[in-house]
Amino acid sequence: MDIRFQAGGAENWKTDIALVPVVQGEKILETCPELDAAAPFLAIAPGMRDVSGRKNEIQIVYGHPDLPFSRVMFIGLGKAEPTPGRLREAFARGVRKAKELRLASVDVPVFCLKRFGLEERLLEEAVYACMLGNYSFTALRKVREDDPKSLDYLTIGFLDEYVPDSLRQAARRGESAAEAVMLARDLANTPANLLHPDDFADKASRETAGVPRLSCTVRDERWLEAEGFNCHLAVGRGASRPPRLVVLEYAAKGDEDADPVVFVGKGITFDSGGISIKPAAKMHTMKCDMTGAAATYAALLHLAREEVPGRFVGLLALAENMPDGGAVHPGDVVQSLAGDSVEIVNTDAEGRLVLCDALAYAQKAWKPKCLVDVATLTGACAVALGDGLAGLFSSDDRLAQAVQSAAACAGEDCWRLPLWAGYKAKLKSTCADICHTASSREGGAITAALFLGHFVKKDVAWAHLDIAGVDWRDADSPLCPAGATGFAARTLLELARGGVE
Ligand code: BES
Ligand code: ZN
Ligand code: ZN
Repeated sequence: MDIRFQAGGAENWKTDIALVPVVQGEKILETCPELDAAAPFLAIAPGMRDVSGRKNEIQIVYGHPDLPFSRVMFIGLGKAEPTPGRLREAFARGVRKAKELRLASVDVPVFCLKRFGLEERLLEEAVYACMLGNYSFTALRKVREDDPKSLDYLTIGFLDEYVPDSLRQAARRGESAAEAVMLARDLANTPANLLHPDDFADKASRETAGVPRLSCTVRDERWLEAEGFNCHLAVGRGASRPPRLVVLEYAAKGDEDADPVVFVGKGITFDSGGISIKPAAKMHTMKCDMTGAAATYAALLHLAREEVPGRFVGLLALAENMPDGGAVHPGDVVQSLAGDSVEIVNTDAEGRLVLCDALAYAQKAWKPKCLVDVATLTGACAVALGDGLAGLFSSDDRLAQAVQSAAACAGEDCWRLPLWAGYKAKLKSTCADICHTASSREGGAITAALFLGHFVKKDVAWAHLDIAGVDWRDADSPLCPAGATGFAARTLLELARGGVE
């Protein structure tokens, strides 16, 4: 969806409808006199009597059709304080409604944001929300008659003659964040027969070609073999399409020699469980088991396009977890890249296996300023925190704080869980240096995080986001249709934008 900046007053705009969030009980033409000036028909429109601002209420008020700007949609915010999150939801709701009405465009009148606080930040959120409200995944089906029609463009309306640079940039930031999230959603919504590890890697290498200062190296199974990524390779043994490691590297001009921030994503393009096979009921949702890699990829691509200062590396640990005669057996022992032997008792705990090698590689190949991995790692995390909160584990309070504030800014909340050393003993193996799972399921998100932590050196600031509960939604919501959420793509992007200490 294109963004068109429209300056010079409402008479010069070309848009189907303006979206205006209202607080319950607010007399909008008084609190926002610019709106009164831009749409004078509102003052005498009978429909204004129905605008109450109650939460989720949508009222459309019409002016004469010949006006350049003849419809206003008032979106109720309710009584609670109008936070960026609530405004985000309101704009997305407005876009959903405009799609139902089969309109071609909506307008965000910037002057209607001022009364809620910082205009730049709120414009960024409004653009972000409008774009996500417009998102749907329809690539694999025909258009149905009752499908809402996606909008063609989004306009941003200014009363002044010129669009201030700061607001133009804010809108572009919102657009870029939304594109990152949509890219992650598209990847995660794509079924496993259309996105094998090599397909994902090819796509990354195609899409990054030509992005200045961003390189993409695809490592195949022979390279992984030669380097000793035996845990990663073990996961892919039962699949007909082999594993890949994608290495994305970006440095802003002048930051080429800086220590990089390294993001690592779990990219299991399908998790059947392997020989420790999963029950059938929800197995199809395991096409989403690569959302950590999708978020990492989307963040790297967009931070490079935005030319964010700093140096960043993204590692996508890609494999397909399938059972066949060549598959890893429960009980197998393999030597990890870091050197420790790992006993694999349950082949369904494959995420930590691809990640332990990628984490070790990150520390071997670079001196990470910090290391952040994102993974749909454990059902236990989903049980503990539900579908609204990701689990955050970190060895470093400052990094944890930085991740938490980036996540809050992105509207992707996470909750810190303990890396409690008392559970380390659960990972003792009778025949190898470490066992990759504990024998009981209790505390499973923590023991999984402790296993990863085993591969991170003491002096490296590391954070792990377990997104198993939040990467997929069964229910539709204004900002996200049922399906993949793209969770963590924007958090990583915000973390990069904010600069990681
Ligand atoms: N991909 C799953 C975790 C998952 C579960 C993600 C539900 C999203 C929704 C992961 O590979 C897995 O199967 N983990 C096991 C670990 C266990 C065998 C120790 C789990 O959580 O049951
Ligand atoms: Zn699994
Ligand atoms: Zn998995």
